[in-house]
Amino acid sequence: MTYSKCRVCREPAIIDLPRHNANFCAEHLLQLCRRQVQKAISDHDMLSFDDKILVAVSGGKDSLAVWDILTELGYRADGLYVGLGIGDYSDISYDFTAAFAGERGLDLQTIDLRGEYGYDVPTAAKVTKRVPCSACGLSKRHLFDKAALDGGYDVVVTGHNLDDEAAVLFGNALRWDVEYLARQFPVLPARPGFPKKVKPLVRLTEREMAAWCIVRGIDYQVEECPMALGNKHLAYKEALNAIERESPGSKSAFYLNFVDKMAPILAGHSQAASGELNDCAVCGSPTTGETCAFCRLQDRVSGREPVPVELVLNKKARKAYLAAQSAAEE
Ligand code: AMP
Ligand code: FES
Ligand code: ZN
Ligand code: ZN
Repeated sequence: MTYSKCRVCREPAIIDLPRHNANFCAEHLLQLCRRQVQKAISDHDMLSFDDKILVAVSGGKDSLAVWDILTELGYRADGLYVGLGIGDYSDISYDFTAAFAGERGLDLQTIDLRGEYGYDVPTAAKVTKRVPCSACGLSKRHLFDKAALDGGYDVVVTGHNLDDEAAVLFGNALRWDVEYLARQFPVLPARPGFPKKVKPLVRLTEREMAAWCIVRGIDYQVEECPMALGNKHLAYKEALNAIERESPGSKSAFYLNFVDKMAPILAGHSQAASGELNDCAVCGSPTTGETCAFCRLQDRVSGREPVPVELVLNKKARKAYLAAQSAAEE
């Protein structure tokens, strides 16, 4: 599809961005993305050129794009991929990540949950009877922190974009969950036992990141995680997209104004960030109890027979998953 003219150079545009009320050619789309990342970094003091940076890469568009942008801007950034054992989805995600790193000569560390910790996300979901994203998120957070501290990294970068953050904010605001709201900022400073964590893509949307990857020739995992199908997060994204269509710019105003205006008001309201912490008796990570949530999960699920992905999906998600599998086999 071609749109009229690029706002900057008047050459034919490749994308329209209603929230900027403008169209952009490939070159100026890249420029816009770079500038938004630089603005997020400088507004929130996210990164410095001396930092040793660890980018958590899932093989999806956002994390590959943020790794690409940071490297292009001159930051020193290695990648970290966690193999979650979610069937073909994980295998394919790894292939995209490894190909990206290999083509660019970037360093990629990998952690395999089943190989190193004796479990995978579907099995953990089945045993704990919780939604898969809960064991998944807990495992990822723990492993990102550990890899960063063990490897002497100054900061962990994730690829969360404006759509992700606005959807999480929407969910937290629907419940007025002050504890979560108080931690939902694009930078979490380092604390004893925790590395600094930053989200440089918070000013950019999913669509802009997909366009970045297409223009830059980056192949990425297009599929959503099969375990996330039908979760609330996706429903919140759709709700915000409906509002955005009626009123372009609302999504970024909702999230970015929250960050600007609520950060000072909510500062200090997170108990998790301010409470007393002990060292986990098993792994030494900070925890409020005796053993940390990761070690408790591992203790419960490690060594169990692997459970196939389709067995932990609800009916609707299983149907979509099996249909996608048979389409892929044809
Ligand atoms: P998600 O929680 O899947 O929305 O992913 C949010 C961010 O977490 C991504 O942009 C990545 O930075 C990181 N991430 C997700 N999955 C993985 C993974 N398997 N390995 C490393 N990083 C990941
Ligand atoms: Fe974590 Fe799907 S990536 S449950
Ligand atoms: Zn242009
Ligand atoms: Zn522990």
